[in-house]
Amino acid sequence: MTTAVIYGSHRSNRQGIKAAKFIVNQINAEGNEAILVDAKAYDLPFLDKMYKEYEEGQAPESLEQVAQILKKADGFMIVSGEYNHSIPASLKNLLDYFQSEYFFKPAGIACYSAGTFGGVRVAVHLRAVLGELGMVTLPSLFPISKVQDSFDENGNAIDKAYEKRIKKFLSEYNWYCEALQKKRTEGTPY
Ligand SMILES: Cc1cc2nc3c(=O)[nH]c(=O)nc-3n(C[C@H](O)[C@H](O)[C@H](O)COP(=O)(O)O)c2cc1C
Repeated sequence: MTTAVIYGSHRSNRQGIKAAKFIVNQINAEGNEAILVDAKAYDLPFLDKMYKEYEEGQAPESLEQVAQILKKADGFMIVSGEYNHSIPASLKNLLDYFQSEYFFKPAGIACYSAGTFGGVRVAVHLRAVLGELGMVTLPSLFPISKVQDSFDENGNAIDKAYEKRIKKFLSEYNWYCEALQKKRTEGTPY
């Protein structure tokens, strides 16, 4: 199974990248493929045209690269900070470029913040957006508090409690991935 781990922050001192790497590492450790889709690394401009609005082969190269990852993915891990109780513009901009690439696939939400509340308020907004985009969001969340202190630069957990918690979260995520993957092979309503 392939997971696109989607993260968006353009801040020079961004911290959520550590959490995104942690999740990539943990999925890989289970023997599944995780591909980091980092909005800053792909440097997508503010949305002018959605991916589907380009003729085949005409999309900018970085947009095409992201599209191919999303098409290949069996599910998504959305790693999101909480900016004023909502979704970082960098992440929302990336999400908005695509549509059918998400359909009938699960999405886990790993939300985080610098404080103790783990960014849970952004998860409420994300659920509405991801649902509109055609993803099935997991009932459980993976909230991360004090993100800046919880992982090192390579995505290793400093707070070891996250290693135990992610296993439980991934077992739920994998269940949805397998269930929806099976149904997709039988066909989808659209
Ligand atoms: C524009 C902005 C708004 C923020 N709003 C919130 C907020 O509503 N709640 C919160 O807990 N933290 C908030 N924070 C702090 C972030 O949780 C913290 O900076 C986090 O590291 C941001 O993610 P990033 O480092 O991946 O960009 C905000 C940070 C920024 C830059």
